Amino acid sequence: MTTPVLLPTIAALRAQTRLWRDAGESIALVPTMGALHAGHMSLVQLAKQRAQRVVATIFVNPTQFAPNEDFNKYPRTLEADVARLAEAGADAAFHPGAGDMYPDGFCTLVSLRGPATAGLEDRFRPTHFQGVATVVAKLLLQAMPDVAIFGEKDFQQLAVIRQMSTDLNMPVQILGAPTVREADGLAMSSRNVYLSDEERAVAPILICSMTKAAQRIHDGEAMEAALAPARNKITGAGFEIDYLEVRDATTLATVQGRYRPGLRMLIAARLGRTRLIDNIEV
Ligand code: PAF
Repeated sequence: MTTPVLLPTIAALRAQTRLWRDAGESIALVPTMGALHAGHMSLVQLAKQRAQRVVATIFVNPTQFAPNEDFNKYPRTLEADVARLAEAGADAAFHPGAGDMYPDGFCTLVSLRGPATAGLEDRFRPTHFQGVATVVAKLLLQAMPDVAIFGEKDFQQLAVIRQMSTDLNMPVQILGAPTVREADGLAMSSRNVYLSDEERAVAPILICSMTKAAQRIHDGEAMEAALAPARNKITGAGFEIDYLEVRDATTLATVQGRYRPGLRMLIAARLGRTRLIDNIEV
């Protein structure tokens, strides 16, 4: 088992990654907000296949939370996270303080159109993606990795990050990794801990209903007709749906009609005080 080097500052990260680069070693970055679970570990595994050194970042990024969101109660479990990274074989854990990332006088935000304004998450979290793009741009510039890995669970986020790195000519390969699910299909998320036992029991209705709708679309049914029973089932189980839509998997543009290759179904829905997101290929 490797004990990851703890890098509490940007200066420490830069010094460590410079040593690896000077030795000719490739670097993969796995950005996270901590509260690591098996989904994150799969990102580390993929990173290990793609580069000689793996740096996981742990930073609950304040700029991607709106004032009414869960920034203060977001789980912070640094010790357990480092233990998991050791098991997974990460070489370093970068866990900067907020003052290091956003010192007094900080005034730059990275803001995108395109996938960031697709009318999905951005309709409900209008400032979210500029916070994500800003912190990811910073992390990429700080670590200068060869490759950076993000989960497909946050599908719109992945599209935003791909667009940003292309537009800003960042010399990094952005890789998406498949969503890891619990045995009953619920997508793993650090926010699943907010669910009560009763809510946790009904939560898999999301993926069950989406899978059935995707099959109906695949079998030739019109998209809106195939989504209607899924909406009924999900709201009947107590969820409030923010969106449940089929989109172009690459551009996230709206689509209509019937099946064609390259479609993605995306959902965000609230159960009690917990907001869950998920997506699947159609
Ligand atoms: O997906 C996340 O955990 C975060 O949005 C990220 C990419 C680490 C940026 O804070």
